[in-house]
Amino acid sequence: MELMEALRTRRAVRSYTDEQIDNDLIRELIEAATLAPSAMNLQPWAFVVVNGSARLQGLSDEAKRYTIDNLPKGSPLAGHFADKEFKIFHDAPALIMICAKNEERQSDEDCCLAGQNLMLAAHAQGLGTCWIGLSRPWLNATSVKKELGIPPALRPVAPIIVGRVQKLLSATPRDEPLIIWGR
Ligand SMILES: Cc1cc2nc3c(=O)[nH]c(=O)nc-3n(C[C@H](O)[C@H](O)[C@H](O)COP(=O)(O)O)c2cc1C
Repeated sequence: MELMEALRTRRAVRSYTDEQIDNDLIRELIEAATLAPSAMNLQPWAFVVVNGSARLQGLSDEAKRYTIDNLPKGSPLAGHFADKEFKIFHDAPALIMICAKNEERQSDEDCCLAGQNLMLAAHAQGLGTCWIGLSRPWLNATSVKKELGIPPALRPVAPIIVGRVQKLLSATPRDEPLIIWGR
């Protein structure tokens, strides 16, 4: 797929088929992620994969409960969580968590770049993805890291669900960019 076409047609996907994703395909996406640039080429990322709808469904419920319990008063997200049908991981079959391996100042940026690579590579393979920032506080809770087998030294930065697209939403609009031609 041509790059500009990929950039224009990628969408956040929130509706997936039941089809499970092969681990080899996930490895390919991770390889694409590791092609991202990183500060001082430190490559401070590690990838934690939860693959399988049944497991992810259970985690989705758990993450929802945790998030409701820890939602700040008056949060605009309260409406989403009041909806019984709302699933944090949108019934996707796989979750790839890009985690920072160190506390270097720019590790988060590096992991985010890896995340964008992963989402574009998935799109080129005909897969859908969605970055699930909502799950990040839950994923960083000590008990959850233990439950998922995430080593304590890793810090989940970019949780991205992956799967075959069931329903594609129309493109979200983009604002005119604010451009300042500096002196
Ligand atoms: C850092 C980040 C966090 C996000 N968190 C969530 C999330 O928790 N749940 C969700 O459904 N979408 C989430 N998204 C997806 C955005 O809502 C989506 O990218 C945005 O609306 C633009 O739509 P598009 O990706 O289809 O262009 C997140 C995206 C980013 C980059």
